[in-house]
Amino acid sequence: MNRCLLGIAALALLISAPMVLANGDGGGVAGSPHDFSGEAWNHRGELCRVCHIPHDHNRNVSLGALGLLWDHQVSNVSYLMYAEDTHIEFIDGAADAEPTGTTKMCLGCHDGTVGLDQFDNKADVAGTVFIQDDHPGFQVPGASLPGDLSNTHPLGVVYDAVADGGLHPVTNAMGASGTIDDVLERGRIACASCHDVHDSPGESVPSTHLLRVANNTATGTASGLCLTCHDK
Ligand code: HEC
Ligand code: HEC
Ligand code: HEC
Ligand code: HEC
Repeated sequence: MNRCLLGIAALALLISAPMVLANGDGGGVAGSPHDFSGEAWNHRGELCRVCHIPHDHNRNVSLGALGLLWDHQVSNVSYLMYAEDTHIEFIDGAADAEPTGTTKMCLGCHDGTVGLDQFDNKADVAGTVFIQDDHPGFQVPGASLPGDLSNTHPLGVVYDAVADGGLHPVTNAMGASGTIDDVLERGRIACASCHDVHDSPGESVPSTHLLRVANNTATGTASGLCLTCHDK
């Protein structure tokens, strides 16, 4: 390769190495879509602290009660759940009336009602940076109705392989994240059942949306994630 080509190759590498990856690389939080250390609103360039804080520095008591040293404001929205809607559904497992646990934590940023910048020292400031403005396309559920989860995969539903004969046993493997049972919360489906928020090495599949099992032929098997739980 001549010098000129080498120069072009080096430039291409620089251009193709973004600060934050559009998809995870399975290399951990740093450099992943959840690395907000370079955002203007994150004054001290914190990595973990946007979500967790090691000590209770006058942290909002209700956040502490969520566990996991949670540090990010959560949403007050009352949600319309999958099985609450009037559309056709065949849910067999018992379902929560509202999202709980870690799902509530994810929705604190993803439903678009709480600012990304609302964590500890900034929690008393009205949020100014919302996911739909700063990171369009990543709002879950869609932008039209922040509280409408009725068209999102069922959440808070018990993984009941007996009641629903179309589910694999919970002892089956869930990619490299242990068993299906390991990724359930109180035996129920959470956002983190399918996604690895930390993009941990060896747990989430690179070049996917932080998935625990790849879901298309570009990164793995067609609908591999769905087929891990559903016997279809
Ligand atoms: C502090 C706010 C915040 C919290 C809490 C949060 N997210 Fe995110 N998440 C974001 C933002 C902002 C993006 C968009 C990043 C980008 O533009 O690349 C994102 C992106 C994602 C993506 C897409 C990544 C990709 O590669 O396309 C997934 C999947 C995701 N989040 C899942 C979750 C799950 C699951 C949880 C809870 C276990 C969670 N998030 C908690 C703010 C958050
Ligand atoms: C975008 C928000 C976000 C960021 C940033 C984040 N976490 Fe988490 N973390 C979560 C959520 C949500 C959970 C619960 C869901 C789960 O474990 O999948 C969690 C769970 C954990 C747990 C307990 C469960 C486990 O996986 O062991 C530890 C420990 C942890 N995080 C450490 C860290 C550390 C250390 C950092 C920084 C390097 C970090 N987290 C950054 C959101 C985040
Ligand atoms: C971690 C396990 C898991 C994964 C992964 C998973 N599902 Fe599910 N899914 C469930 C459970 C549990 C239910 C609720 C079943 C019940 O109670 O009848 C469900 C329900 C559904 C329903 C609703 C059916 C009804 O009764 O109304 C559909 C449709 C569905 N899943 C499709 C998918 C698709 C498509 C994928 C892949 C993108 C997927 N699932 C991935 C566990 C999973
Ligand atoms: C049953 C598995 C499953 C559950 C549960 C789940 N997701 Fe996803 N999610 C996926 C899959 C599969 C994709 C990739 C879809 C695609 O490529 O179009 C995805 C994509 C995403 C994306 C990327 C943007 C987009 O909409 O495609 C975000 C952000 C996200 N999920 C966040 C969440 C949050 C937050 C929750 C909980 C409220 C959640 N997910 C629950 C399977 C799931």
